[in-house]
Amino acid sequence: MAVPFRYRRLAYAALTVTGLDRSLAFYRDLLGLDLASRSEDMACLRCSRDHHNLVLYAGSEPGLKRVGFQLEAEADLDAAFEHFERLGYEPRRVANAELERLKQGPSFRVRERRSGLEIEYAGAIMQMAQPYVPTVASIARLGHVVIGSADYAGAIGAFTADFGFRVSDFVEGRFSFLRCFPNPLHHSLALGASPANHLHHVNFMVTDIDDVGRAIHRMKKASVKVVFGPGRHPPSGSVFLYFLDPDGMTVEYSYGMEEFPELGAREPRMLEPVPASLDTWGAVPEPEFGKGGRIEQAA
Ligand SMILES: [Fe+2]
Repeated sequence: MAVPFRYRRLAYAALTVTGLDRSLAFYRDLLGLDLASRSEDMACLRCSRDHHNLVLYAGSEPGLKRVGFQLEAEADLDAAFEHFERLGYEPRRVANAELERLKQGPSFRVRERRSGLEIEYAGAIMQMAQPYVPTVASIARLGHVVIGSADYAGAIGAFTADFGFRVSDFVEGRFSFLRCFPNPLHHSLALGASPANHLHHVNFMVTDIDDVGRAIHRMKKASVKVVFGPGRHPPSGSVFLYFLDPDGMTVEYSYGMEEFPELGAREPRMLEPVPASLDTWGAVPEPEFGKGGRIEQAA
């Protein structure tokens, strides 16, 4: 069941937005990311030394374009490419012109067919000379991406067996939290059962619980709709707040997360499928929670 490569971490998420200026203002001024580069149709934002942890593309329909992961070593990248080729996934190397725009070394992309999600295995990402300086919130990292999948069981099977993710916890038949082994974080990708494939939310982890509290008031003042929280997720122990970006895609701030050792990690827990398994504080999600944004299918 083991795959012939090891993950380092979730590197970036790429979203298509319908108003680049408007979304850029949201992710920079209200969420607290730093703009690293901008062109006519693309903006790269960061919350670390990396040139990008979030890439926004201008387009006509909002959605999740891809999710980028980094592997431990360059040799892992070759091993992963061969692995996906062998399994018939038809991995595609990213063209040089695009790598130049992204400020990335050799990288490749592969689609998980059940969920439709495109995963990028990113090579080196340019490190910025200046450190990320927190503004409205102190963001620790891009935390995780969650999607809904019409073929939930099939997608979980593929992400674990073929893509090498490990299940940290699950709600039977409904939801799975996946970690990119051997990265210790409880989950950097999660999947829910859904009538259709779609983006559920993109998460940013903050360094202080005050960042979550302050965001409640900052978002309200800016007329940004809070769609769930504040609350505490029992699976990972995180304190969370979910709100909508200008296209109605759900974004999350969270504070705190369980970490797993590489060896001797606890077994995944099967959680009861009731609201209390998602929040212990009694928050009730709004209907728009986790609904906005498709999973982009174009190559
Ligand atoms: Fe989340």
